[in-house]
Amino acid sequence: MPAQARTFSQSNATMDSRDIVYVNGSFLPRADARVSVEDRGFVFGDGVYEVVRAINGRLFAARFHNTRLERSLKGIRIDLVGDDSPERFVEIGKQLLRENKLLEGEATLYIQITRGATTRAHYFPPPEITPTVYISVARFTPYAALAEGGAAAISHPDLRWGRCDLKTLNLLPNVLASQTAKERGAFEAMLIRDGVVTEGAKTNFFGVVNGILRTHPRDNHILPGITRSVLEDLARSLSIELDETPISINEIPKVTELFLTGTTTDVMPIVKLDDKPVGSGRPGEITRRLQRVLAENLASAGD
Ligand code: PDD
Repeated sequence: MPAQARTFSQSNATMDSRDIVYVNGSFLPRADARVSVEDRGFVFGDGVYEVVRAINGRLFAARFHNTRLERSLKGIRIDLVGDDSPERFVEIGKQLLRENKLLEGEATLYIQITRGATTRAHYFPPPEITPTVYISVARFTPYAALAEGGAAAISHPDLRWGRCDLKTLNLLPNVLASQTAKERGAFEAMLIRDGVVTEGAKTNFFGVVNGILRTHPRDNHILPGITRSVLEDLARSLSIELDETPISINEIPKVTELFLTGTTTDVMPIVKLDDKPVGSGRPGEITRRLQRVLAENLASAGD
């Protein structure tokens, strides 16, 4: 196995000695947590999720994640019940960080809501069936070495549906693309739809063409990444122009810098695409500047 593949195939989720999760109103050990086999998340992938970064107990950009979760829930027509709200889920997440002794260092918060458990039928269940809420936290180790030297990516067809802007549990095309990337010793799959780069299987993509930073516009073909939007603001503050014209496959040979962004990847330089070097084969100058400024922002910001 190539050295790089070994680095990122290690699991980030280590079992903490106090591994407490939240399911439907209860805090309990992960090993004792249960959802029904009739849960629509299990049967149909009928649900949405969020992944939030926690640094020394502070959640990064939690308000943006809340807004996106609200939008995803609305987008697939799940109504929360009682006191449940994205804000409440984040408070539960903070409690889980405390319970699991993850107030120091890096961790991730995972929030998943499904349409609930009922006898299988494609249409929505009756109103008395309430959503399933699952929230957990895990220790996280940033990909520091890879972020320093740069990672490899492959190009891959984007086989997803027409609402990639919603963060749903339906991740099969993402799973298959990620697995293909892994088998080819690459960190990420760069997805191509209608001749342009959309995003990654679990990240957003940026590239520099003719000296201009480019990324896919925010529309139904990409997830509006929280890191992507933070980076947009940071680029503006550094007077780096960002053009939201997608990179076409014909332009790929002219790409001098390539990087991806995500909650668990930060700014990750891509120095090899489909086994060919990108630009000089080393992380480029714009990538490095944005990498630095995002790291500063992550270290200082939080809710
Ligand atoms: N993935 N695009 C896709 C398809 C994603 O799944 C993600 C996040 C991103 C980046 O979004 P953000 O900056 O908000 O993390 C873009 C998460 C981390 C996951 O599925 O684990």
